[in-house]
Amino acid sequence: MTNDPNTTFIFLNGRIVNRIGYGAMRLTGQPRNFGPYADWQGGIDLLRRARDLGINHIDTARAYGPHENEKLIADALVDADGSYGEMFIASKGGVEKSATSLARDTSAETMKRHLEESLASLRTDKIDLYYVHAPDGITSISESVAAFEEMRQAGKIDMIGLSNVTRAQVEEALKVAPVAAVQNRYSPADERDEELEEMIDWLNEQGIAFVPHGPLGADPMKQGATVDPGEALRTLLARAPNILVIPGTTTIAHLEDNASVLAT
Ligand SMILES: NC(=O)c1ccc[n+]([C@@H]2O[C@H](COP(=O)([O-])OP(=O)(O)OC[C@H]3O[C@@H](n4cnc5c(N)ncnc54)[C@H](OP(=O)(O)O)[C@@H]3O)[C@@H](O)[C@H]2O)c1
Repeated sequence: MTNDPNTTFIFLNGRIVNRIGYGAMRLTGQPRNFGPYADWQGGIDLLRRARDLGINHIDTARAYGPHENEKLIADALVDADGSYGEMFIASKGGVEKSATSLARDTSAETMKRHLEESLASLRTDKIDLYYVHAPDGITSISESVAAFEEMRQAGKIDMIGLSNVTRAQVEEALKVAPVAAVQNRYSPADERDEELEEMIDWLNEQGIAFVPHGPLGADPMKQGATVDPGEALRTLLARAPNILVIPGTTTIAHLEDNASVLAT
């Protein structure tokens, strides 16, 4: 892939992705993104359509399902040669989910176990980008990131990401390992947050991707965008060249609309 800053982003390690990606969280059982997606074949078709449309950045997490969303992605996108080809898969560890509860655990031991489980569910030896899903408030970010750095050195992940973090936490993490991406809630639907605005610019200066979750203003546990999707995606992409969008959808029609944004 060649780089065009309007449509693509180059990660710190030289990997290039399209700036319009796909957030797969909603291809899970409902309510609460728990259990397997009811229309498994429909999910496969949607993910393959994303690939055909040139969307190569797919965002998932061990917690979605749990495991089920990663397994669906493997069923859809692992090629006959056992690889993901040109696709760029990002997942996350550190959140434990049941039908009724959600708990964070970002201790080194759990982070390593979650990563091994994600590798198994995604049926791969290496994940392109693996995030700390959300700091647990007890474990230091440097402990979680050191665990990932050990796994990165062992060749099990290519790059480390942080989700739901402050700039201070990113700075702490950077003392331990390179950070390639930050994923926080950010959408034109949300109230302006000056600290977050400054963080996006600072991340851009560092060459770190910013991946807004809930880019269309949706409640992660409820159905429906709260802003005009095309307008929101265009605003986000124009905001800074390090922004990679991952709108979620369960319909191929909406996927096609979202993928066409860069062309309009
Ligand atoms: N790191 C974290 O803590 C975290 C938290 C939440 C989410 N995420 C990630 O962020 C991704 C995106 O977030 P999200 O799915 O919660 O919210 P979102 O992208 O803001 O919005 C998704 C909602 O918008 C609708 N939609 C999408 N495209 C549309 C279109 N063109 N026209 C009309 N409606 C449209 C979808 O409904 P339809 O199905 O009907 O299209 C869906 O209900 C997730 O998939 C996940 O990967 C991460």
